[in-house]
Amino acid sequence: MNRRELFKTISAAAFVAGVSGPVSSQAFAQPVSPVPDTHATTANPREVLSLNTGWRFHMGDIAMPLLVTHEDTYNSAKAGRARGAASPTYDDAGWDRITLPHDFASFQPIVADANVDQGYRKRGIAWYRNHLKFTPADKGRHIELQLDGIATFATVWFNGTLVARNWSGYNSTYIDLTPYATYGDAWNVLVVRVDAEAMEGWWYEGAGIYRDAWIVKRDALHIATDGAFAHPVPSPDGPADWKIPVEVTLNNAGQATGQVTVVSELWDDTVGLLVQDKVTATVSPLGQALAHLTLHHNRPRLWSPADPQLYRVETYILDGDKTLDKVTTTCGFRTERFDAQKGFFLNDTHMKLKGVCLHQDHAGVGTAVPDGVIDFRLRKLKALGCNAIRFSHNAQNKALMDACDRHGFLVMAENRNFNASPDYLAQLEWLVRRDRNHPSIILWSVFNEEPMQATEQGYEMVRRMSAVVKALDTTRPVTAAMNGGLDAPLSVAHAVDVVGINYQQDKYDLFHTAHPNIPVSSSEDTSAFMTRGEYISNKDKHIMASYDDEAAPWGETHRAAWKAVAERDYIAGQFVWTGFDYHGEPTPFTFPSNSSYFGIMDLCGFEKAAFYIHQAQWINDTPVLALVPHWNWKSGDKVRVMACTNLDEVELLVNGKLAGRQAGNRFEMNYWTVPYAPGHIEARGYRKGKLVKAVRVETTGPAIALRLIADRKSLSATGLDAQPVRVEAVDAKGRSVPLAQDRVTFEIDDGAIIGLGNGDPTSLEPEKGNVRSLFNGLAQVIVQAGGKAGTLRLRATAPGLKAADLIIPVTAARPLASQATKA
Ligand code: GAL
Repeated sequence: MNRRELFKTISAAAFVAGVSGPVSSQAFAQPVSPVPDTHATTANPREVLSLNTGWRFHMGDIAMPLLVTHEDTYNSAKAGRARGAASPTYDDAGWDRITLPHDFASFQPIVADANVDQGYRKRGIAWYRNHLKFTPADKGRHIELQLDGIATFATVWFNGTLVARNWSGYNSTYIDLTPYATYGDAWNVLVVRVDAEAMEGWWYEGAGIYRDAWIVKRDALHIATDGAFAHPVPSPDGPADWKIPVEVTLNNAGQATGQVTVVSELWDDTVGLLVQDKVTATVSPLGQALAHLTLHHNRPRLWSPADPQLYRVETYILDGDKTLDKVTTTCGFRTERFDAQKGFFLNDTHMKLKGVCLHQDHAGVGTAVPDGVIDFRLRKLKALGCNAIRFSHNAQNKALMDACDRHGFLVMAENRNFNASPDYLAQLEWLVRRDRNHPSIILWSVFNEEPMQATEQGYEMVRRMSAVVKALDTTRPVTAAMNGGLDAPLSVAHAVDVVGINYQQDKYDLFHTAHPNIPVSSSEDTSAFMTRGEYISNKDKHIMASYDDEAAPWGETHRAAWKAVAERDYIAGQFVWTGFDYHGEPTPFTFPSNSSYFGIMDLCGFEKAAFYIHQAQWINDTPVLALVPHWNWKSGDKVRVMACTNLDEVELLVNGKLAGRQAGNRFEMNYWTVPYAPGHIEARGYRKGKLVKAVRVETTGPAIALRLIADRKSLSATGLDAQPVRVEAVDAKGRSVPLAQDRVTFEIDDGAIIGLGNGDPTSLEPEKGNVRSLFNGLAQVIVQAGGKAGTLRLRATAPGLKAADLIIPVTAARPLASQATKA
């Protein structure tokens, strides 16, 4: 074939690829009870295989061989001929074996000459390789690689061809491997080079392939990734009558035009199939088609934080009677409304947003957070009385988004980069497309604190970004988190639906008066400092006391920030900076401090005093009463005691003697300063004059033993299931000793320790290995079960203390990692 013929062939293929197949607009008969004709329960021909195992890892860069000769130069420019470590033939036998998720920065020591915001961990460049086999039966199917998150610049080769570059540390990479795959005995070689010198934020971002990886095998004609959108909306006929407009994107990687029936069904897990719709669609080879269907449903059980009721939408495509592909999405029926005077309404009921901002990392594991730890964190936030989360300042792990639906959180999803150029608009588009089914998402935030926010250019950029969101989802408002420019004549405030205000609480009223018709929420506030378990500040030692006395100059204390929001009906709610501490940004300190002081909980999810302050502020339905601090002082010390309560009145008793009775103060909390004497303090809380709750803090004896407390009763043998274990030192009466700082060594059988922490922002101890000191009485070990059912056994020892043993049953499960890999 000469050059001219080659050109003709390529352009013809490109033309075909660009054509969308026609979609029949005809919807067939609707409700199909009592005997539904459904394929939703037949086996799904789609295979979703974990690719978290089988990886080889090399820390450091491997330079590409220098090109000197013409032949090498010529060949290096060809598909399938990648060189050096990107070449399929490169010998990686000496590389480390690792499993995903993998944050290579979390293995690095904490060193003074590394970046402060990255938690003083060096990041650098690293390589990953994996070998895969596809069976002869896979031939003709569509094979997609999904890399959920890589920090930060990723280059991906498959069988020697460069197949993707992704410069977002937060967005997924989906790669169609079909054209390059080989089948049968030959190994396919996947290579990822990660350049984590690049940073996208001023917080800890992790490094490497820190989220899950998947191989998805589908029919050549299939539902595109993130291609089923089914989010219920109330119909104008009345709130009891709902519809789900379903939009399905079909892909055809085959060589012939495909005719399919697209079916979408709404399922209730207890009742079964509720409603079905069908349309036909035609998809040309290498083309895409959109199918639109509608599911009607009356009087659904509504989704809310208190009752996060989920329904399933099963969408599948049929070729005649054969199911080609099937996708399950979840949905929730709920309405939302931001009112410029009255704030936020969910299902037409007013609801103040009691929210936290979160970064994605956790102690011990960095950004490679296992699903079990994600679940632990969300349960902690529920116990806090929190109903909303702002995912600052980037897209999250998809398991986290699913968990938000299940646990019932109202989510502000946030885009990372403020940029209206094509690459960045594509990142925003990806975020909305992936996450728009989640009932939890109530707001799309297009940026956080941008210097151009009060300029015409900023306004123009937000207009474009908002249009990208609206093209995909008109059901949620667009917002932006502004830290200035609120009084500018033209700002992004004029291009969003809801204005998000970061800090600047003294400007709330000015803005509202000037713009009475623009809905407003705090998008970020507080930024107060606390070290867990410390009650006397010592700036030289980087210690912040727990009485909520100190905040960043731009922030407020926990108490003042909530008061400013709670007292204004027109402010939809608050998002405290932050729910948990995170690695990096140790403001107001620098080295050796290496994680933040802002959290309501520490890096491990252990409660600081701020936890009880927010419980008292946020929880209305159950009695809250907590006492701070511990009661292990020196005789004669004058101790400030804080009670946090949502009750009408609270009494403090010191060693049984009344120290005072006060009206409960949910904004300020209640305080006494009393002389210390060993024994106990007790708080008694009253509602309408009746004692409803009492709590006691006792002086403990010296630590004599360790104690291990599992988060969940069992783990499943998927090979990836993990959970945090709480480590305490206890006295002779089994009471947790608040000042214990013992150095604890761990041994594990039939499992792995994947991370350790203790919540001390100044600790330089590694987060990997098997040793961790208690910090003010607590530490955390994250354990992971293997792929075999049985028991995981963890043992903790420390000099002078009785050892502790924990046995966690590991229940049988289908291993997640079923893709054939070599390592
Ligand atoms: C905000 C910013 C956050 C964090 C915080 C610390 O201005 O949006 O990312 O840096 O300050 O107080």
